[in-house]
Parts: sequence; structure tokens; C-alpha cells
Amino acid sequence: VVFAYQREQRGLGHAVLQAGQFVPEDENMVLILLGDAIVAGCDASSEMAALSRKTGCGVIGLERVPPEKVSRYGIVKCEGGRIVDLVEKPRAEDAPSDLAVAGRYLLAREVFRYLADQSAGVGGEIQLTDAIRRMLDAHPVVGYAYPGRRLDIGNPEGYFKALEAYHENR
Ligand code: G1P
Repeated sequence: VVFAYQREQRGLGHAVLQAGQFVPEDENMVLILLGDAIVAGCDASSEMAALSRKTGCGVIGLERVPPEKVSRYGIVKCEGGRIVDLVEKPRAEDAPSDLAVAGRYLLAREVFRYLADQSAGVGGEIQLTDAIRRMLDAHPVVGYAYPGRRLDIGNPEGYFKALEAYHENR
């Protein structure tokens, strides 16, 4: 395991960009796993890899969220399984759907090229969502709704639920 440090807090996209230097030249795809998203009850990464091999596309893990939670996530628009648009943290009334980006991405390595010149978006941060949106035409991405349960430990309520789930399964 190699750790890359993000020395300035400039957003998720900027954090992911720090890892680009460690991806070997001959790797075409990168798997990005956000540390605050725990997926239980399925092997999401393997299932996403299988879907990528079958479709020849990148894959983003998705989860349906209720309207009051839409503004916490990247929200996608899907057509026939393909992701055709993504919006980071939209208001519920502006969201293209209720399908949220759920912390697992299998993407063409070119994502680092797009991140390198990505300008700041929502919250003044460099958003991974915005870089993916720009690469969709050249590097298509399909959505994958997890059969398992996702625990979001990036907020106090989700962290508490994850602790409960952990104790139930011990
Ligand atoms: C990040 C992403 C967002 C995604 C979420 C999933 O947001 O920017 O698109 O839906 O992770 O957990 P953050 O949790 O860093 O605000």
C-alpha cells in the first residue's frame, strides 16, 4: 500500500489526483473506493469489474436516495444503463434523477488527465463528478446499482448506523 497525501483541502477530485502518479503506465482502468462508503452484502468491486469487462465501459456504483438526501451526493442521469450526465450535490428540484453516486468508481485512467485541468465546482472544490462528466463522451460509463447495503460514514447518522450494523453482525 502506498499513501499519497493531499496537502491542501481542495476537494475529492484533487485528492484522487494525488494518486495518479502511482498508477502503472500499463493499467487502463483505476478503481476508486471512497473511504467513507462501506458496502456490505455484496462484492461490489468484483461485480463492477465484471460489468466493465462485459460492456467495455467504466462503471460507477449507484444507490437510490430519497429527495431530502439528494443534495448530499453526485446525482446521475442514466439512459439504457449508460450514464449521460452527472451533477454534484444538486438541489432536489434540479436533480436529474434520484440515483446517487455511491462511493465506488471504476474509470479509464484518463480521469487523471481530466482532473489535472479541472476547475473548481460546487463548494469551491475540484469535484471528481465534474471531471467524469467531461470524459463521458470519450470514455463511456455505465451505472451499477448495488444489491448490497451501503453505509455512509461521512455523516453522524450514517456513522451510528454503521456501528449498529457492525454490532448486529458480530
Ligand atoms: C463524494 C462525491 C459525491 C458522492 C459521495 C458518495 O461526496 O463528491 O459525488 O455521491 O462522495 O459518498 P462527499 O461525500 O465527499 O461530499
